[in-house]
Amino acid sequence: MRRTQYVPTTDWLPLDKSPFLMRVVILTDAAQVARRAADVICQCVNKKPDAVLGLATGGTPLGAYRELAERFSRGQISFSHCTSFNLDEYVGLPVSHPESYRSFMDRHLFSLTDFASDRCFLPDGNAADFEQACLEYERGIAEAGGIDLQLLGIGSDGHIAFNEPGSSLSSRTRLKALTQQTREDNARFFSSIEEVPELAVTMGIGTILDAKQVLLLATGSGKASAVRAFIEGPVTSQVPASALQLHPHVTVLLDEAAAAWLVRRPYYDHVESIQRRLEQATKAPSEG
Ligand code: F6R
Repeated sequence: MRRTQYVPTTDWLPLDKSPFLMRVVILTDAAQVARRAADVICQCVNKKPDAVLGLATGGTPLGAYRELAERFSRGQISFSHCTSFNLDEYVGLPVSHPESYRSFMDRHLFSLTDFASDRCFLPDGNAADFEQACLEYERGIAEAGGIDLQLLGIGSDGHIAFNEPGSSLSSRTRLKALTQQTREDNARFFSSIEEVPELAVTMGIGTILDAKQVLLLATGSGKASAVRAFIEGPVTSQVPASALQLHPHVTVLLDEAAAAWLVRRPYYDHVESIQRRLEQATKAPSEG
């Protein structure tokens, strides 16, 4: 008997969205993760030029920011109508300090692209009244229409933004004390661990879950344990990123090293191959 290959019908497939709630994509290296992350961000901005982007700092998104800056310099993308809200900011560092997250964003993205400086927001790490400032940050996000795409890294302890283990899964923007692990991890950006601030202002897990789409990046073997725990473990405040299992539209981009501890790896690769086939089938013939 002659077998024909099963081709699923694609009429129901929303073009900009995977039918799988948490899409786990395993790529060979950090460079590929950066390129795919830039693809997802550009897709969002091309579809909605005045998109509200939630942005992250740290080592992980640097490659994606470089890629975005290059695409901008080649005239392939513009952020001039976008608004951005960063996840977090250290408490007590002057804004001009090279390791303040404001300086980081200026250095690695804003000054290299056409983001409008009056629409790039970060929490205020030097507020006179933190409670008020956090409420205003939340209000700012709501008034902008909510975050369309939230970019995230993940801490080696499973944190997202600075929601450390034990953070309420419904938390909103607030002050948070950094764990010793996070301060040790971030000491590489300072001259000593003593210089790493003890407190940060951070969006809450509830704030992050309100984003319409989430894109989490993880690279390197130091993230393998946290990656396994948040994707394959239970939803628990002890692994704050595990709350993303409750979100309807999450893409996780991993390199091989960060994916190394995933037990269900063959399944994610299988689902991804279906996803790629569906995308191919829905492409216009001219797109190749
Ligand atoms: C940064 C942030 C943090 C980092 C995380 C990973 O704005 O919110 O959650 O994403 O600490 O940091 P890196 O990328 O330096 O490993």
